[in-house]
Amino acid sequence: MQDSWGRKINYARISITERCNLSCVYCRPKRVRAQETDSLSLSNLLKLVQVLIRLGINRIKLTGGEPTLRKDLLDLVTAIKSLPGLNNVTLTTNGLKLTQLAAPLAAAGLDSINISLDSMNREKFRQITRGGDINLVINGLSAALATNLPKIKINCVPTTDTTKTELINLAELARNDRIYIRYIEMMPMGLGKNQPFLNNNRVKKILSHTLGPLAPLDKTIGNGPASYFSAPGFTGALGFISAMSNCFCGHCNRLRITADGHLKTCLHLDTGLPLLPLKDDQALAEAIRQAIMAKPARHLFRETSLNQDKRPMYKIGG
Ligand code: 5AD
Repeated sequence: MQDSWGRKINYARISITERCNLSCVYCRPKRVRAQETDSLSLSNLLKLVQVLIRLGINRIKLTGGEPTLRKDLLDLVTAIKSLPGLNNVTLTTNGLKLTQLAAPLAAAGLDSINISLDSMNREKFRQITRGGDINLVINGLSAALATNLPKIKINCVPTTDTTKTELINLAELARNDRIYIRYIEMMPMGLGKNQPFLNNNRVKKILSHTLGPLAPLDKTIGNGPASYFSAPGFTGALGFISAMSNCFCGHCNRLRITADGHLKTCLHLDTGLPLLPLKDDQALAEAIRQAIMAKPARHLFRETSLNQDKRPMYKIGG
């Protein structure tokens, strides 16, 4: 459906758990009280997705926390893929469990996978993730490449501490493989507020200086805000998501559902509505429709806002 600004809303990102097996410094505090059960059950998730489809959502991203920690993930992907009306079901993950899960996820029909990987430097990765083992991610990525998953993307959120070598070494993953490397400007949400973002114009300059001129790819790949470029001799592509230096809210097509069952209509602002306990389909659809009509025109990251969302990113889902 269209919101009151004429934007077509067709994409929902659903955080299916706030649990995570890493605690990245910009996302999740070192100590979080462990949550035993996820707020959104498999049946509630399916009911919600069906209502979203009725409202015109045709693309779904499952996120977290770390969605692969859910025991019912494969059942969920299989069930969502079998719903008529969806063009695209994707998953974002830290990749730690992909060695085992890449093949079954591909078999379940997943359309694309996003792996979060901020540095190829083993020590730096350990620091950022507070203890993560990069080998598991690299093996997970290889496992994903060995499947017929149509798209494999890597998300890197650099900061001003990220070195040129780190930026380039990540890009190099796309030289010989069909991988999209996306550089995402850190948004001042939750712990991300303590981490200065690295301007993507600078990242582009650093990459083109070493890899050669970046040529824009004009086709839209994926769900929206990334702009993609090819580098000379590269099989894959490089993407840039520049929420800070180049506000793309005018084309925002998305809704978010947090791990605690809250519908968010803007990543930054605390707008939306609590969805739990779920109303009957008709009432739920009407409540979501009204929330979509009240979707803000744009984020106010660069201004101050009294209405900013205080939820941490591991609940919101990135
Ligand atoms: N700014 C930008 N990206 C973020 N992510 C998590 N927190 C932030 C933030 N503050 C990214 C993660 C992951 C994706 C789902 O969201 O790195 O790749």
